[in-house]
Amino acid sequence: MSQPRPCRATAHSNIALVKYWGKRDGDDPALNLPAVGSLSMTLDVLRSETLVSPAQADGFELDGAQIGGKPAAKVFAHLDRVWRLADLNGARPPCSVRSTNHLPTAAGLASSASGFAALTIAAAGSFGICDQLDGPARAQLSAWARMGSGSAARSLWGGFVRLDAGSRGDGSDCLARQLHGADHWDLKLLVVHTARGAKQVGSTGGMESSRLTSPYYPAWVETSPADLDAAQTSLAARAFEPLGAVMEHSCFKMHACMLATQPPLMYWNGATLEVIRAVWSIREAGGPRGFVTSDAGPHVKVLCESAHAAALAQQLREVAGVHEVQIVAPGPDASLELL
Ligand code: DP6
Repeated sequence: MSQPRPCRATAHSNIALVKYWGKRDGDDPALNLPAVGSLSMTLDVLRSETLVSPAQADGFELDGAQIGGKPAAKVFAHLDRVWRLADLNGARPPCSVRSTNHLPTAAGLASSASGFAALTIAAAGSFGICDQLDGPARAQLSAWARMGSGSAARSLWGGFVRLDAGSRGDGSDCLARQLHGADHWDLKLLVVHTARGAKQVGSTGGMESSRLTSPYYPAWVETSPADLDAAQTSLAARAFEPLGAVMEHSCFKMHACMLATQPPLMYWNGATLEVIRAVWSIREAGGPRGFVTSDAGPHVKVLCESAHAAALAQQLREVAGVHEVQIVAPGPDASLELL
């Protein structure tokens, strides 16, 4: 291959209903193998678009601004990884990477999931590894995206996606797959913004400290497979309450494990708690039913049935400290465009 081809990829962000937190101990860290499986909903609207094209020297632009330092180094290292994994000969040619995040970057809203998924796809297209995302290509690129960021493995597909932890040291059974397309169930996720700006401790460092210091980490890992299977069963049956219950349980177990980390990982702020309490009291009072989850950041995501989304969002906008409530539907597959 002489020159990269200009290629654009779009990947949607995803939110885990059953969470991933922690990497497998003892296996090659470069494979980024999760200690637990996870199950996610891909989100409409919230997405990353990434263009990879030939250039004189490597460059990375995010939302119109030139980026250097560690974030750029991570992007170029991922291009090198895709080049190497595809067994391409010689040195990787220099590339220009231009990304637009249609979501707040690094604020616990899964920008690394959509970002690494879009980067992986655009790089693979650009290096001539694939022209379209058929089934095998999508699965292959999902595994490569995982090496950039675990949650990115799930953003290759739309709808509802399961990532299995697997047990083989080479990662060959750590695979994501779509369980249901976006039209399986008319659900909405309310993204309740409770802060502006980037989070303080990234997921990668946070989960490693939990593995090393949280006394609850072994229990977290041990109890996760049952949650995963229960969520998959409820999702297939469109059983809202049981899905909501296991989703909340997985979220609070993960946050308990985070809180018991030394030093503690407290990703929430006061408004996070106010929103959680509001969702619960509205539900208990027989109002629009929602179930909460939150990631390595202060925002709350509330799963609800479509018919109740507008009313619940309106009530949550009234909670002190809430900046914005977005109503998001299940989103589509990631896509690739050769330019
Ligand atoms: C809390 O995928 O960002 O959002 O693999 O180290 O890049 P790395 O971590 P990342 O972690 C996501 C953690 C989470 C839960 C989840 O999305 O499953």
